[in-house]
Amino acid sequence: MIIIAVMNLKGGSSKTTSAAFLAHALHEAGLRVLGVDADGENESLLQWQALGEWPFPVIGMAVPNIHRQLPGIANDRYDAVVIDTPPMKEQRNIVLSAARLATHVVCPLAPTSMEYGRLPAVRQLLADATELRNDQKPIFSILFTRTVANASSTEAYREVITEEGDHVLKVPVARKEKFAQAYGLPIENALATAYGDAIAELLDMTGEEAVSA
Ligand SMILES: Nc1ncnc2c1ncn2[C@@H]1O[C@H](COP(=O)(O)OP(=O)(O)OP(=O)(O)O)[C@@H](O)[C@H]1O
Ligand SMILES: [Mg+2]
Repeated sequence: MIIIAVMNLKGGSSKTTSAAFLAHALHEAGLRVLGVDADGENESLLQWQALGEWPFPVIGMAVPNIHRQLPGIANDRYDAVVIDTPPMKEQRNIVLSAARLATHVVCPLAPTSMEYGRLPAVRQLLADATELRNDQKPIFSILFTRTVANASSTEAYREVITEEGDHVLKVPVARKEKFAQAYGLPIENALATAYGDAIAELLDMTGEEAVSA
């Protein structure tokens, strides 16, 4: 089972949008998906699931012991779990708990100086989570989001972050109306978006394969 935790330091960084599309891409690839809403504030994954009548369940778990509660629930029934987290700045304990359990941590980030400046805090949380784990640390990836076509910033920040030793997923998620207007609606063809490329890359990093539908 893969457990993807989507996290960032602050709000408005595409966490919920990314969790929603990643979960749908996994579902479309034929995996049994569980969404976990560890935020629970407005525009939550849980509400979106209900409004959009998603074809897989989302449960609310905005607690600081996800790493204890979730295994008993997800246990054998799902192939992939996607956890949407609150901003670390406000609910660090909840995010830390998700990072203690995750096989993969994905940090959605716009390639701008402001958002790049949030990375050290995310790295620190991962280091803290790793110290609390007995097993391997999660596979950490940065997912560029809200990118502008042909802007040199995307490749410039990719280079900087790669040099610092972190992995940036190959295909960035562009700033698009399709994503800006997605909240509350059903999601179709997520696999055909950059999020489909992201899950292919994430699954590849564990050697897991998508089960064909
Ligand atoms: N690729 C994109 N293109 C355009 N708009 C986007 C994109 N991704 C996200 N957005 C928009 O950016 C805003 C913030 O996204 P989202 O709610 O996913 O962030 P969040 O990190 O979950 O925020 P919060 O911490 O407040 O829950 C939303 O209005 C969303 O529609
Ligand atoms: Mg959110």
